[in-house]
Amino acid sequence: MQEIKFYKGENIPLELHKVRVVQKLHLVPIERRLEALQEGGYNTFRLNTNDVFLDMLTDSGTNAMSDNQVAAMMQADDAYAGSQSFYRLLKAVQDVLGKQYYLPVHQGRAAENIISNAYVKNGSIIPMNYHFTTAMAHITQYGGKIAELLYDEAYVVDSSHPFKGNMNLEKLEEIIQIHGAKNIPFIRMEASTNLIGGQPFSVQNLRDVRAIADKYKIRLVLDASLIGENAYLVKQREEEFKDASLGEILKTMTGLADLVYFSARKLSSSRGGGICTDSDEIYHELEALVPLFEGFLTYGGMSVREMEAMAVGLYETLDETIICQSPNYIKYLVNALDSKDIPVIKPAGVLGVHLDAMQICAHIPQRQYPAGSLAAALFLISGIRGMERGSISNQRDEYGNETYADMELLRLAIPRRVFTLSQIKYVEDRVNWLYDNRELIGGLRFVYEPPVLRFFMGGLEPVSDWPQRLMTKFKEDFGESL
Ligand code: F0G
Repeated sequence: MQEIKFYKGENIPLELHKVRVVQKLHLVPIERRLEALQEGGYNTFRLNTNDVFLDMLTDSGTNAMSDNQVAAMMQADDAYAGSQSFYRLLKAVQDVLGKQYYLPVHQGRAAENIISNAYVKNGSIIPMNYHFTTAMAHITQYGGKIAELLYDEAYVVDSSHPFKGNMNLEKLEEIIQIHGAKNIPFIRMEASTNLIGGQPFSVQNLRDVRAIADKYKIRLVLDASLIGENAYLVKQREEEFKDASLGEILKTMTGLADLVYFSARKLSSSRGGGICTDSDEIYHELEALVPLFEGFLTYGGMSVREMEAMAVGLYETLDETIICQSPNYIKYLVNALDSKDIPVIKPAGVLGVHLDAMQICAHIPQRQYPAGSLAAALFLISGIRGMERGSISNQRDEYGNETYADMELLRLAIPRRVFTLSQIKYVEDRVNWLYDNRELIGGLRFVYEPPVLRFFMGGLEPVSDWPQRLMTKFKEDFGESL
């Protein structure tokens, strides 16, 4: 895409959209924010948005919808079976993702449930570039284990590696040799690898993984929830594709996988999800599970309005002016924080900005959850809600022991076309203040720990009165300011 240069002053990411529907935000006083944290068990998932100023929890279902998406929702065809809305969506999936068959599901993890139900058995091993929380939970629920096969570079915070999401090919061969292809029902590749900071893989790496999958006759499954942004970064960073369209890159990637699944909450700025394939065999293996878990095959648990918005959103995924907005804002904020030496995942990826809590909160041991503590502290001093992506988001092992995360990240999601640049500058300012006062942040401990996906509804408490002390310092520096 052509860069828009400024005559004078800094080059800033220029919005190629205008705002036509707005929602009022609330920036409540710090005393109320402390109460909200206490009520929500120091878990940002449990906050009420009445207390949240900038909601950077996730991009899931929070990307701004386009005028055309909203308009399409009005023409939805209400029918249990054979809805025209479904056929419009089917055509969009075929056009954009290039697969013939499409099984609708209500969101991404529902696809993970169906795929795991069909293919994962006790003792199965699923090699993947890296896990996503819900993918791992479903695989382990059905008795499988995961093997994460990234290159060492993926875990380096201050890196310039363009494709930290690449799968380690030598390790993939090795794991197949150790466990045998018969115990590996599929290999999973995740576009824009979420939990290591929204880092892409290259098309070449996917081709190499495909070649190994072919050699051992193992299915290749692609999690395409963030494939639009992965395609955008391929265009920027992989020489072979610098003149290709996003649509060509996208289809090159999906064409390499036997089965593609996605969360439409991310991919198409809507709701819903899906599984698609060109294989008759795979389609028939999975087909029966959709009415069992989701709903009839022409809605899969989605409302017809959601399907219409998704169809339009899928086509919009091919528009670079739409897809570039979030990565460009992310790059802007990463550069701003990096210029102040605040540890942040580099290179800038997709989905959000990822602060390195392992360094920022180096004084907090991992058993007291540095990333969760940083998330709570940032909310307290700013009303910005991020998401812990560290040990709280990990699950205990089969013996009930904590498994500490490879990286302790606080993710500040930047959904598509939602925030303005002054809001991003506010984030920069408050993160900067918190970094300068980081010694005041203390740890957390669980008081309520659910057995599955504990990070969603778990409750924690601070190990000392550090939130009060942080609030006192904030008031000293900011006076009556919110
Ligand atoms: N795969 C990836 C890569 C994801 O990022 C997500 C969701 C899912 C699958 C599951 O999809 O939420 O529709 O069931 N990620 C959200 C996030 C929750 O905040 O990163 P879902």
